[in-house]
This record gives sequence, C-alpha cells and structure tokens, in this order.
Amino acid sequence: LTDTRESMYLVSEFAKTYFHNTLLNSEEGKAIGYSYFKERGFTNETIKKFSLGYSPESWDAFTKEALGKGYKLEFLESTGLTIPKEDRPFDRFKGRVMFPIESMSGRVLGFGGRILTNDKKAAKYLNSPESEIYHKSKVLYGIYQAKQAIAKLNNCYLVEGYTDVIQFNQSGIENVVASSGTALTPDQIRLINRLTKNITVLFDGDAAGLRASVRGIDLILEEGMNVKVCTFPDGEDPDSFAKKTSYDDLVYYLENNSKDFIQFKASLLMNEAKNDPVKKADLIRDMVGSISKIPDRIQREIYIQECSRIMDISEQVLQSTLAQLSQKEV
Ligand code: CTP
Ligand code: MN
Ligand code: MN
Ligand code: MN
Ligand code: MN
Repeated sequence: LTDTRESMYLVSEFAKTYFHNTLLNSEEGKAIGYSYFKERGFTNETIKKFSLGYSPESWDAFTKEALGKGYKLEFLESTGLTIPKEDRPFDRFKGRVMFPIESMSGRVLGFGGRILTNDKKAAKYLNSPESEIYHKSKVLYGIYQAKQAIAKLNNCYLVEGYTDVIQFNQSGIENVVASSGTALTPDQIRLINRLTKNITVLFDGDAAGLRASVRGIDLILEEGMNVKVCTFPDGEDPDSFAKKTSYDDLVYYLENNSKDFIQFKASLLMNEAKNDPVKKADLIRDMVGSISKIPDRIQREIYIQECSRIMDISEQVLQSTLAQLSQKEV
C-alpha cells in the first residue's frame, strides 16, 4: 500500500466511527438520524452491523473534529469527505444519514449519504467521489457482511440499494449485496464469482428495475455464471417488500418467483408477443442472444432445448440462429 492510500483508509475509518457515534450519542444525531432509521424499522443490532451513522447539519463539524485529531486536510479532501474552499473547507455529507461502503475485507472505501426529507429536487443519495481508494464500478455494498453466507449458501442475491441489503439482513437473509444503483459492471460480477457461481437478481419492481435486470443477465452469463431473476410487485423494492413480510413468507416468495433467464424473458415479453409473429421472432432472437453469451457448450445446448420448449420452435432453427450470432461476433 502506498502511504497515500493508507492515509485515505485511516481517515475513512475515523469518519465511519465519528458518524456512527454521532448517530448514537449526540442530541442531534439521536433526534434526527437515529429516529429516521427507527422509522425505517432498523434495529440497534442492524444499525451496529452496518455501522450506520449521521453527519451533523453543520458547515464543518466533522472536518474540524478530524483535523483536531491530527488527520490531514489533504486526505480529508482526496476521500471527498471534505470539500475544498479557500478559507473554510466544508463537510460533504452534512445533515445526512450515512452508509459506509466497505471492501470484501472490511476496509472503508467510501460512503453513501441519504437526505432525510422527501425533497424531490435534492439528490436522495450523495456518494463519495471516485478516488484512489473508491472505484464505484468495483464495489458491492454489503459484500463484507455477506461473503460467508454467499459461499455457504452458494448463491448471491443482487439488489439495487443500500436499504435493500440492510432490510434483507434484518429479515434473516444475509447472502445479499447491492450494485448501488449504477449499471452492473463485470468487475462487480467477478467479485461475486470469487464466492459463488449463482446470482439471483432482485431489482426494484419498476420499469427501470426491469431494464436493469435485462442488461445484467447478459453480463452475468458472459462471466460463465448462472443467473436467475425474481421480480417484485410494481412499486415495491426488496426493502419495502421484506419489511412487511415474515421470514418464512419472504423465503417462500423468493423460491417460488425466481426464474431462470429464459423464463424471465418469456414472462416479461410473452403477453405482448403471443399473437404477434414479428414480436415473437424478436423475443426468440433476444433469448438466443443471451444464450450465445454462455461460454459452456453443454449449458448452451440445455438452454436451447428450454427455449425451444417454451417458445414452441424447433431446436434446429434456434441452433442455426445461434451459429449466425456467434459468427457475427468473431
Ligand atoms: N442511488 C444513488 N443516487 C441517487 C439515487 C439512488 O446513488 N440519487 C443509488 C443508491 O445506492 C440507492 C440505489 O441507487 O440505494 C437504488 O436507488 P433507489 O431505488 O432510488 O433508492 P432506495 O435504495 O430504494 O432508497 P430509499 O429506500 O432510501 O428511498
Ligand atoms: Mn486505483
Ligand atoms: Mn428504483
Ligand atoms: Mn429502491
Ligand atoms: Mn427503497
């Protein structure tokens, strides 16, 4: 490790502790931040497990405290915790509840900070900027808390948001990580691949969530991994759904609504395509496109069979479509 990066890790660790203590021990933190998390249904144990915090509504309370403890302005600024200003640098996350983002080994890399109001004009979440220690395309929120459960259960639930991860943990499902709203990347998928070959995508039950699921499928298949998709009712996300569902019902829902990608694509588009030959042909080409991403030949064969059965079209036609697609890629 370079000295620069080590210093950035240290100041980030300090910030995590500062925000967490502020949430639990300061009058403002308790009245605003802690009660916000309580309203969302998070227990003290959960707040501790994810080191949730609060950044005071003040120009530079955090920055001053850090400087007073001997942390250098240079590293406060390069981590983005403090925003530069000639005379008076200020706190990036003031007045927000804080979600520390940790690496696989538990190092603090950055933060997400949520506003407490429902002001539609302000950004709901503010995140740490890209830095030498924080690369948003390479991190998965919750991976440190989830890694053992993912390996043990040989499956990883992939959600969109911080609170989805947290609410699932509180419901007793620990093998879950979040892409944190960014388009899923190969680096993020490879992080999971170190622990399991199986991903179940659980994106929000809205149009954006469905689109993101469809995009995620091909990326996961390209890494040689297995992908299932489980959708939620319109307007629900894993957090809101888990919050009002018992552990048994949640597990039952996940088991009964997880579909492999062929079934997912069929259910998504079949209604539209059923009586329209042109749309049905597009859907089949789309499915074969996904199948063509699978590196393993036997698996491709099995999915061709499944596609043939579900879409009621001959395997030979699918095979030749697949061959055409593979040729185009060379
Ligand atoms: N996100 C972000 N910046 C935003 C909005 C979203 O970084 N302005 C990221 C966050 O990581 C967020 C995820 O995208 O958790 C999913 O977004 P969304 O579904 O809108 O938020 P939720 O996680 O559902 O947050 P909440 O329940 O607190 O509203
Ligand atoms: Mn780097
Ligand atoms: Mn959403
Ligand atoms: Mn959401
Ligand atoms: Mn939500």
